[in-house]
Amino acid sequence: MNKVQLKANTYLCPVPAALVSCQDKGGRPNIITIAWTGVVCSDPPMLSISIRPSRYSHGIIKEAGEFVVNIPSADIIRKVDLCGIISGRDSDKFEKAGLTPLPASHISAPLIKECPINMECRLAEIVPLGVHDMFLGEIVATHINEDCVDDSGKVNVGKIDPLAYTPPDRSYRSMGDVLGSYGFARKA
Ligand SMILES: Cc1cc2nc3c(=O)[nH]c(=O)nc-3n(C[C@H](O)[C@H](O)[C@H](O)COP(=O)(O)O)c2cc1C
Repeated sequence: MNKVQLKANTYLCPVPAALVSCQDKGGRPNIITIAWTGVVCSDPPMLSISIRPSRYSHGIIKEAGEFVVNIPSADIIRKVDLCGIISGRDSDKFEKAGLTPLPASHISAPLIKECPINMECRLAEIVPLGVHDMFLGEIVATHINEDCVDDSGKVNVGKIDPLAYTPPDRSYRSMGDVLGSYGFARKA
């Protein structure tokens, strides 16, 4: 198959479509949809989110020094999209999207009840990169819906049904079938 060379582009795919919740110093919460996110360290557990300075959430997270990365299920796709096309400057996104704030255990920003995984993060560093600033966060607590974990503590990712985003066509997608698991290629 021949290759076509494109201009340098961020075609990493899939990436998660995450909902990041935050709260200003006055106690007003907000949500921003974030696709530019990833794990950056396992121990301490850390992740990154990249936010344009023009976003209302940018200033909130910079000032509060904390945020929550919430992993939505595919069934709340419309809420995920909505939180990515309206600004908290103009409206209360929890109310507009029909999402429920829940108290976190270690930080002031709320978890989003409707998302099966919630990672509370303390801001470690902001790295200006270009049009986005990268916020590095240390995960200080992780929450998961009870029905997504079995008695032995094993997480059922099928039940979480995370939503994927594919930058080349700006689409949301579901995850599809399990094809193998880490290290399975070692087995004959
Ligand atoms: C699927 C999707 C992914 C997005 N990813 C990012 C991102 O990684 N970084 C960013 O700054 N904005 C991203 N946005 C745009 C923001 O979510 C959007 O501008 C939002 O309205 C900002 O809200 P705020 O002003 O309340 O902070 C994304 C939007 C969508 C729909």
